[in-house]
Amino acid sequence: MGQTQPVIRERMILGGPSGSGKTYAMCKIVEGLPNGHHVAIEVDDGFTKLLALEFPNLAATIYDIDDKMEWHPRQGFAKGDTLRVYHAPSFDAVRSAQISIESLVAQQIAAMYGDFAFIDGLDLIYNTQRYEYISKASSMMRKQKLTIKDEWQAAMETRATGAPILEPADWDVIASFYEKFITYFAFQIPAHLVCATNIEAIDLDSRYVSKEAKELAKSIGIPLKFEGQKRTPRLFDTLLGMAHTTAGFNLTIYKDRGGLGRAWSQGKQNTSYMTYECADFFKTGQELFGWQV
Ligand SMILES: Nc1ncnc2c1ncn2[C@@H]1O[C@H](COP(=O)(O)OP(=O)(O)OP(=O)(O)O)[C@@H](O)[C@H]1O
Ligand SMILES: [Mg+2]
Repeated sequence: MGQTQPVIRERMILGGPSGSGKTYAMCKIVEGLPNGHHVAIEVDDGFTKLLALEFPNLAATIYDIDDKMEWHPRQGFAKGDTLRVYHAPSFDAVRSAQISIESLVAQQIAAMYGDFAFIDGLDLIYNTQRYEYISKASSMMRKQKLTIKDEWQAAMETRATGAPILEPADWDVIASFYEKFITYFAFQIPAHLVCATNIEAIDLDSRYVSKEAKELAKSIGIPLKFEGQKRTPRLFDTLLGMAHTTAGFNLTIYKDRGGLGRAWSQGKQNTSYMTYECADFFKTGQELFGWQV
């Protein structure tokens, strides 16, 4: 893909259970675009395993964060800058990774037009953020009330008084930080965006399922939920389901931006979605989404 030519930006989310090939798909994209300068934020260690065992030839570097919030290349995983992976196990680390990426983009040394930005584990990022919020708030409470021993107990005690652990104002804070983070990647970074998250079946009649998840399920015609913040799926033009079956690895297109004349049947009931074999996600991208090198 052209390095300076503005192209249509992909905004894709890959949904699928563990082992369905989401991180593998990201590595395949990098393999297909070895002259790019791609960036990734990961919460788990999916890239570590794949880069070590299955993609040893990728010029990739994994960065870890230290106590002073500075990033360092990991020993044995500093092979080049075709792909920079920020291993961010906390929400503070995720935000710090975003700042590092913004600065690379500003200096025009990574994630330009034609390059990819990956966020592996959007659901984990959101869960981590909520947990850390509760944990930090509780530890502040603990300093005031010395009888409470730990975060978990503090949260339980709050709940025991009948108060919700998170008040609406807390949710607002969490949502606004999360949105600041995701909005950068969805709308500002000049690169393509591919995110990965878990996917699960939902009961459309359940009152525990959010209105947003139900609306999305109705619009794609299938009772599925992309895990994470409830407004997340709306940020993506292309919603894909990944699966590993006895027939191999495949992907299903639930919604696409409508490129290449394929307007997916949104809003229709009982639509049968096309499922494609997906050995190499980059080749699949070329065939299905018109990616050009
Ligand atoms: N298209 C594929 N062709 C061959 N093997 C694949 C393919 N996709 C995935 N695999 C194999 O499946 C394993 C698991 O894939 P991967 O780590 O990408 O799953 P994941 O969806 O990211 O799971 P998790 O949610 O746990 O991170 C890989 O180690 C790889 O060997
Ligand atoms: Mg993974």
